Amino acid sequence: MYWWWNGYGYGCKTGMKIYEMTDEQRIKLLLDGGYLTEGQADLLRSRQTISTDLADSLSENQIGSFSLPYGFATDFLVDGIDYLVPMVIEEPSVIAAASNAAKRIKNSGGFRTFPTSRIVYGQIVLENITQASLSRLEQASSEIFEFAQNAHPSLLKRGGGVVSLNFNYYDEFVEIELGIDTVDAMGANMVNTILEKTSQKVSTMINGDVLCSILSNSGQGQVITVEAEINFDQLSTKTMAGHEVATRIVKLSAFAKASVKRAVTHNKGIMNGIDAVLLATGNDFRAQEAAAHSFAFESGQYQPFSEWHLAEGKLVGTLKMPIELGSVGGAIRALPMAQLSLAIMKIHSSKQLQSVVGAVGLANNLSALRALVTTGIQAGHMGLQSKSLAISAGAVGTEIDLVAAKLNQTKNYTIKNAQNILLELRDK
Ligand code: MEV
Repeated sequence: MYWWWNGYGYGCKTGMKIYEMTDEQRIKLLLDGGYLTEGQADLLRSRQTISTDLADSLSENQIGSFSLPYGFATDFLVDGIDYLVPMVIEEPSVIAAASNAAKRIKNSGGFRTFPTSRIVYGQIVLENITQASLSRLEQASSEIFEFAQNAHPSLLKRGGGVVSLNFNYYDEFVEIELGIDTVDAMGANMVNTILEKTSQKVSTMINGDVLCSILSNSGQGQVITVEAEINFDQLSTKTMAGHEVATRIVKLSAFAKASVKRAVTHNKGIMNGIDAVLLATGNDFRAQEAAAHSFAFESGQYQPFSEWHLAEGKLVGTLKMPIELGSVGGAIRALPMAQLSLAIMKIHSSKQLQSVVGAVGLANNLSALRALVTTGIQAGHMGLQSKSLAISAGAVGTEIDLVAAKLNQTKNYTIKNAQNILLELRDK
């Protein structure tokens, strides 16, 4: 079969779509497009993506590895660069939704992103500190800064290091807050090393106790903005004009600002995409979740991470939130699948990865809102879920597609119906 790869045009000469291909055909597509090495393709084919030694070194009491589907979203045009985006997710329709919205956005000019800094904050918490000790510390702040700066020489060599030192006061506690540029690493280990070394120095300078030193997962130094403008013609459905779809999306976005219950679900749709890319790249998705929770409450009331409005005849979406991740170090370096994901995306820096991850969040959000204000999400969702329902009912091999097709036809998505369809099929 002869594949075409026109920049990021996908398919083969027979006009086959990616979702119609077998996994082997998709792997070949990536190989031919220069996204995978032969070794990486073999790794995917083997479905043995983590060795026992590696599993042992990453976690305790391991007895196996837990697999989730690994796929890729297409058509992400982010800051003028085309990306294929690997995603790890068990929920049907998330990858399809990301790709679907990304294509609409690509056809309207693509995503623009505005990362700010890449600073991780850390806290050295002091308690019961005397006024005299506090004054001594405050006067020695340049000395403490310099000490902290030299506490991780290799980070300094890479162009990172401590960028700020502040004292914050909370009733009986005093906090020394360090801002640290971790360059391309997520930086938890680096930051905690710097904090613990610095806290030892601080404890020699005071009468009082260093209660603890730990990084903050607030993500406040890693907030990113992602924007997309979508032409109305990219939003229409069979029964609704693009302008009406856009207007309804804006209304639903406004409702998410007013209703906390809706804002949480709105944000869940965004996290569908974000967490899936973080998992695929070996990142600490719990850190990202924690940062997102904190940011949603920044104004004092839980808020959506994105908002949609109309401007100059277009639907405009803006996502603003912290994206806490790295593109080097730790599990990212150790996990072959994480390396493979970065290779597929051709990622060169954590800022670039932040931009792509933010774009995926906004894309998943757009798809969800568009579906919700038009057909509802169940049509697409259950259509895709029918395959897993068929498997749960016991279908194997070619039976899976046949049972799924019948489920879609009857639109009765229950395990009982799937079992009956399977029985009928086997009786024939
Ligand atoms: C489902 O995983 C995510 C949605 O509920 C998000 C939303 O409602 O915006 C569809």
